[in-house]
Amino acid sequence: MRVITTVQEMRTACKQARRAAGEDSTLALIPTMGAIHQGHLSLVEAGRTECSLVAASIFVNPLQFGPTEDFARYPRTFDEDCKKLDSAGVDLLFAPEVQEMYPEGATTFVEVAGLSERLDGASRPGHFRGVATVVAKLLNIVAPDVAYFGQKDAAQVAVLQALVGELNLPVRIAVCPIFRESDGLALSSRNRYLTPDQRTQALALSRALRSIQDAIDRGETNSAALRAFAVAELEKAPGARTDYVEVVNPRTLLPVDSVRSGALIALAAWIGDTRLIDNLIVPPDRS
Ligand code: PAJ
Repeated sequence: MRVITTVQEMRTACKQARRAAGEDSTLALIPTMGAIHQGHLSLVEAGRTECSLVAASIFVNPLQFGPTEDFARYPRTFDEDCKKLDSAGVDLLFAPEVQEMYPEGATTFVEVAGLSERLDGASRPGHFRGVATVVAKLLNIVAPDVAYFGQKDAAQVAVLQALVGELNLPVRIAVCPIFRESDGLALSSRNRYLTPDQRTQALALSRALRSIQDAIDRGETNSAALRAFAVAELEKAPGARTDYVEVVNPRTLLPVDSVRSGALIALAAWIGDTRLIDNLIVPPDRS
């Protein structure tokens, strides 16, 4: 795996790799903020399977963190990350410094209006402007055929699909399923913040989704009733504080009054100082 830190070198390396791999070669991009875990690696695996070349990025993007958020203490485990990505089959790793991505005086931002104010965007003003801006830059630098993102960040997926569609960016967005621990906890770099006790409390998120799924299986379709099940489940965990539980259209992120297959049920909760998210897409009716 080649590790590259400048925009110019990354652009050139991607072009060279494509040329060397032949006319029909395809390039995958897996953008990350590092602290690599199995969730990230499942995206790499998908890229490896579908494309001939795999690029990944590690960049803790200051633009997507609010002033009171965890930018400074976000886990940075670069050496371990490199080993994991290398073993997973990444060919090119782009790991720029902040100055390289945002030179002094940079004033251009990408804003997906509307969508960016919903779900996590409502709790984290400016977050999705930061995400859209950095992803637009990464897509322009790497020029991949396919960019891989996790369903774990469902609102991010909606924002990025709008970005790529509306700006006619020549890339396909592939969405990979949520990778979970065997007890249900969705993998997240922020799980590292949790104490053992909080790690147990954090199971409330997947349990809340489970309770919604069970209610749907019993025939409940009313969104307000379903949200109440989830909130009740979250409140059972003494250390958990609900940020939001929403039942929405996965493309528009706008609330729906009743669920049917394909609806997105998304939630966020604080476990101590750590904000975690999880979601489910309502599966096709099994009755
Ligand atoms: P990060 O949180 O590092 O996640 C990188 C990618 O891994 C995202 O697409 C995310 O949805 C996916 N991912 C994280 N946990 C996952 C899990 N348990 N299962 C499946 N996929 C998972 O998301 C970001 O970084 C940033 O916002 C980024 C897109 C890199 C822009 O800065």
